[in-house]
Amino acid sequence: MSKQFDVIVIGGGPGGYIAAIRAAQLGFNVACIDEWKNAKGGPALGGTCTNIGCIPSKALLQSSEHYDHAAHHFADHGIEVKGLGLDVAKMLARKDTVVKQNNDGIVYLFKKNKVTFFHGRGSFVAAKDGLYDIKVAGAAEETLSGKHVIVATGSNARALPGAPFDEETILSNDGALRIGAVPKKLGLIGSGVIGLEMGSVWRRLGAEVTILEGLPTFLGAVDQQIAKEAHKAFVKQGLKIELGVKVGEIKTDKKGVSVAWTNAKGEAQTLDVDKLIVSIGRAANTIGLAPETVGLKLDERGAIVVDEECKTNLPNVWAVGDVVRGPMLAHKAEEEGVAVAERIAGQHGHVNFNTIPWVIYTNPEIAWVGQTEEQLKAAGRAYKAGTFPFMANGRARALGDTTGMVKMLADATTDEILGVHIVGPFASELIAECVVAMEFRASAEDIARICHAHPSLSEATKEAALAVDKRTLNF
Ligand code: FAD
Ligand code: NAI
Repeated sequence: MSKQFDVIVIGGGPGGYIAAIRAAQLGFNVACIDEWKNAKGGPALGGTCTNIGCIPSKALLQSSEHYDHAAHHFADHGIEVKGLGLDVAKMLARKDTVVKQNNDGIVYLFKKNKVTFFHGRGSFVAAKDGLYDIKVAGAAEETLSGKHVIVATGSNARALPGAPFDEETILSNDGALRIGAVPKKLGLIGSGVIGLEMGSVWRRLGAEVTILEGLPTFLGAVDQQIAKEAHKAFVKQGLKIELGVKVGEIKTDKKGVSVAWTNAKGEAQTLDVDKLIVSIGRAANTIGLAPETVGLKLDERGAIVVDEECKTNLPNVWAVGDVVRGPMLAHKAEEEGVAVAERIAGQHGHVNFNTIPWVIYTNPEIAWVGQTEEQLKAAGRAYKAGTFPFMANGRARALGDTTGMVKMLADATTDEILGVHIVGPFASELIAECVVAMEFRASAEDIARICHAHPSLSEATKEAALAVDKRTLNF
């Protein structure tokens, strides 16, 4: 006899666990199935984000930044550090504790919201009489039956052909987050978000880091004025970034990895490193889901096909997060999860794709929302641009971190904010104001007229808004 639920969520990452909580809040009887195992084989809710993504990477970025500050920047503040040491094992253990706190937090939230959790792999078995049968294969096997199914099975790292991940020498994000000792030489393929974040962590801790990027442009999706500023800062810090490369054969032996590659001029090169992180993007994951048993449609890249409301081709089957189209971001997955739960309840959940913020947690941080100058030009949209450098911001000077700028783009006629792009300290936090402004369709003048605390980095946002009208006060 199968257990009956109103809503069955497959996947307990940010898309799935948030959808489950919201559906339970709306009065549904909800099950969430997740197969992630911790080191002891027990459940570890939170998916990629919590276990091998957002959370552990930010923990290591923070620890490595502290080390970098102590090694290179405390002296500027008159603080002497003698005998500075590094305990990588402790740093990794702290990261694991942070991960566990987040895993446990979700267990607590499921109890609080009365979501029934099943540890194991969920797969479609059959669709009959308006219900879907889902098998859970875990320590014990059981079958659940539900009226609605939300698939939130996430994504996996893409490997390079002929160079599978062994997580010892050729690493995905998983292995990259648990290197036991600082490698002398570290190579990365792909200078996207993971390449820059993980490259930064291990460079700060002392590795010689080389990143090989296939495209000729650095951070092509980022506003190029911001990307250029960030590139300058990364190169100054010692990250070697090679653009426009072609990666050839990758060989591993006891000593490490040897990567044959061709530079932008077509010259053959070799990169010999102790470890290689491959960060060339991620692919939607439907392993073990058995979508074919019920006819759930996938696209040519293996992502579940959904419409703008996250409806699949099957009635009452929904899909959210990395397993569907759109940016692979935890907050995008969460917003879709909430919207789907609300739609199941007959409400009008909505995700505004134009105002999803992006953050790259390097130093300087890079954050943006809305359109870049390049996109506006390509669309033929008349716009005004205003920039304000952190060099002219009092709080940034006091912090001792004046790299970067805030750049605001507004419609030439209506002054509506079309995009904000930030490179600099706490860009991740500053972008929130800009998202709110764009959600409320604010004009640059609205931001320029709002009182911002002094001294604060947010004054740079206000000044960038003033700059749109060519009337900065402090620059
Ligand atoms: P996932 O988090 O991948 O969760 C899917 C879950 O489903 C997993 O637990 C998986 O085990 C489970 N599952 C899969 N198949 C089955 C099945 N058949 N049965 C049962 N369970 C199943 N995003 C940000 O917004 N900010 C960041 O700072 C950030 N940093 C990142 C850093 C790294 C190194 C990486 C790799 C990613 C990062 N991301 C970040 C992206 C973010 O992790 C993803 O966008 C997010 O996790 C997607 O959520 P999801 O719920 O769709 O999938
Ligand atoms: P990415 O898409 O950000 O970057 C991949 C890079 O690899 C691109 O620059 C691409 O041109 C390059 N590339 C692809 N194939 C290549 C090849 N054969 N040779 C050389 N270069 C090649 O993907 P990444 O870094 O793997 O991250 C995956 C996703 O995870 C991100 O897109 C993002 O959605 C998410 N993420 C988000 C974070 C955040 O929000 N701070 C942090 C880390 C990951």
